Order: sequence, then structure tokens, then C-alpha cells
Amino acid sequence: MAAEPPGRLISHFQTKSVEQQGNGWSELWDNGENDLWDRGFPSPPMIDLMADRPDLLNPTNPDGSRKRAFVAGCGRGYDPVMLALHGFDAWGLEISETAVETAQGYAAGQLKEPSSDNFPKVDGWSRPEAGSVAFVQGDFFKRDWEKAIPGDDKRFDVIYDYTFLCALLPSMRRDWATRMAQLLRPGGLLVCLEFPLWKSPKELGPPWGLKGVYWDLLACGGDGIVEDDREEPAPSSPQAHFVRELRFNPARSYKQGRGEDMLSVWRRQ
Ligand SMILES: C[S@@+](CC[C@H](N)C(=O)[O-])C[C@H]1O[C@@H](n2cnc3c(N)ncnc32)[C@H](O)[C@@H]1O
Repeated sequence: MAAEPPGRLISHFQTKSVEQQGNGWSELWDNGENDLWDRGFPSPPMIDLMADRPDLLNPTNPDGSRKRAFVAGCGRGYDPVMLALHGFDAWGLEISETAVETAQGYAAGQLKEPSSDNFPKVDGWSRPEAGSVAFVQGDFFKRDWEKAIPGDDKRFDVIYDYTFLCALLPSMRRDWATRMAQLLRPGGLLVCLEFPLWKSPKELGPPWGLKGVYWDLLACGGDGIVEDDREEPAPSSPQAHFVRELRFNPARSYKQGRGEDMLSVWRRQ
């Protein structure tokens, strides 16, 4: 989100209430302003993690069925498509109808002829058979869109978040964590590419600075309103639904992360 005219996203959202956020994003899509955050390719750290840790992110269940992956606020669909190309059955959720149509067009092209950006840059890696990808229009904070997910159990095995949490007002963060816990099956994984960590949580967004926020929300069951640059406190709250299994500074990430992005993997308890 940093290559755009400075402050455009911030000024667009500055006077919008919680209730107006969703429409605010849809307006940007309808006005063709999605270049404000669009990175143009799927997340390199997630691609590399899948290649490095097939034990953690195996797309196949023991019975041979595909695992289900989910991306909220998926934009043009780079990450759901990439997850499908890695063997998951993937779903992307968008509040904007225009975004859903754009993602469907992108997915059709990529499933036919995938860009090498979807795959790791390592020798000897072999491409799995692709799963499916579908896009759903809906508000992440509501449950009505879940009827579009097949089966009685609507929950996912893997959820990936990049630039969705940082797009939300700080007061929406606790609900983000609650919804993530609802949407993941027990034992499932929430993978977060933590961004932006270079920006103080006190500065205006979007993107809202997230240093310390994931830990507070997911490990401590807090509200994610973190004022200062403190050490991670011990995870103590019975409200916390996640245990962090992994956190590292990935070798490859987007330039907008300024070298500070961290990839974290959280297991749903
Ligand atoms: C900063 S963009 C990131 C898009 C995508 N993750 C990417 O990397 O290109 C945030 C996206 O979240 C979508 N969004 C915002 N609020 C949403 C909500 N409540 N439910 C679903 N999507 C939402 C917006 O339309 C927008 O496309």
C-alpha cells in the first residue's frame, strides 16, 4: 500500500464510521482505485512456507480429499488462486462485487496458464495438481455468505491474511480475531503476513500499523489496541483461541514491507 499517492487511502477513510467501512472499500473498487493496494502478484512468503514446510501445510487430508483454504478481503484474488495452484480448494471473500468479478477473471486466466509468481524459486519442487478456487461476495463480519461454502461444516483448514487486518479500523480488530476463530476448524492454521510493522500503531491508516497487534489479539485474547512498542507479554487469557507455532522474517516478501514483514503461523485450539 505504499506506492500510491501519499495519504489517499487515509483521507478516503478518515471520516468514515465502522458502518461505512465496507462501502468505502466498494467505492474504491468501483472507481478503479484498487491500484492503491494491489501488489500484482501472490505472497512470496506464503509460497516459500508451503515449499519449506509441506508437513505443516499439506493440502491433502489423510483420506485424499483436499483441504480448504480461505482468504478474507482477497482483492484481485492473488492468494486464493495461488493456494488453489498449490492443491487446496480455496475460497476468497470480498465485500465488493467489482472485486469478485475482477478476481474471477484473474482466476480463469491463471488456472489455464499460471504465472511463475505462484511457485517457489527452488530446484526440484514439483507442482501438485491444482484444486479449485471460488470467490464469494460478502461481509467478513457477517455470517450470511457462509451458505455459499459447500458442506455442513463451513470451516476451513487454513486461512491466510495479508493486508486485511491492516485495512480495518482498530475497533474492528477483536471481531476480526473472533471471526477467524469461528472460521477455522480446531487444529487449523491461520497464517498472517504481518504488515505494516514499520509503522507505529499510533499513526492513522489504512494501512494501520500492526506491531504487537497480532500477538495481543491471537495469543492474549486482547482487543488489539496496542499503544506502545512493548515486549510480548505471556499468553494468559482463556479468551485466546490460538497458539503461535512459528514466526520469522521471510527471505522474500513485498518491497512495501521495508524488510520488516514477519510471517506468523497460529494454530486454532
Ligand atoms: C487492502 S485491500 C487488500 C486486498 C488483498 N488482500 C491484496 O493483497 O491485494 C483490503 C480488501 O479487503 C476488502 N474488504 C474490506 N472490508 C471487508 C469486509 N468486511 N469483508 C470482506 N472484504 C472486505 C476490500 O474490498 C479490499 O479489497
